[in-house]
Amino acid sequence: MPEGTVKTGASPGNVMQDTEALQRPVKILEIGMAVGFSASFMCGYLKDGGHLTTIDRYPIMIEAAKENFKKMGVEDKVTMKIGHAENVLAEMNDNFDFIFMDAAKGKYIEFLPHCLRMLRKGGIIVADDVLQDGRVAQKYEEIPRRQRTIHKRMNEFLTEISNDPKLTSAILTIGDGVAVIRKKED
Ligand SMILES: C[S@@+](CC[C@H](N)C(=O)[O-])C[C@H]1O[C@@H](n2cnc3c(N)ncnc32)[C@H](O)[C@@H]1O
Repeated sequence: MPEGTVKTGASPGNVMQDTEALQRPVKILEIGMAVGFSASFMCGYLKDGGHLTTIDRYPIMIEAAKENFKKMGVEDKVTMKIGHAENVLAEMNDNFDFIFMDAAKGKYIEFLPHCLRMLRKGGIIVADDVLQDGRVAQKYEEIPRRQRTIHKRMNEFLTEISNDPKLTSAILTIGDGVAVIRKKED
């Protein structure tokens, strides 16, 4: 497969595999760890001495993820933080080469300023599931009431990443839509 091509049905992990600019990051942040599947995978792309920080709001995830990190031999490369990401991020003061957003989709717009604050120039954010089964492109009035908040917030997020002159962004129609955002300047 030619370099830079994205496989159909690829996970965000495959995006990392296929995009030269993402290879060998020193510091990775993941928002939404679950049982550590993608985190373990991403650790394989860290530069020697690199580190991954991952956040989840459910302590039960920590136990399962810890086991998985141990099995994969990456436990020394990972720091787990427990709490609502919007609060955890606000307390963090770090810098990252690569950020993977994969938690509450309606909160991406809240996560974004913190991510941009901590993303180094040239760094990349990958945000998963941004197309919401295509609903994101529908008119607000056509959206069932219970999905309107997430629809509105996801549209705000997509508008923000498209209009910010310090960023370049693209939405890949793989899975449920993946936004790839590059920070051109601080
Ligand atoms: C889709 S799963 C993450 C999967 C993981 N990134 C992977 O690919 O292996 C989403 C996770 O985000 C967590 N989550 C959702 N909203 C959150 C929030 N506001 N703060 C922290 N974690 C959150 C959930 O507990 C869940 O484990």
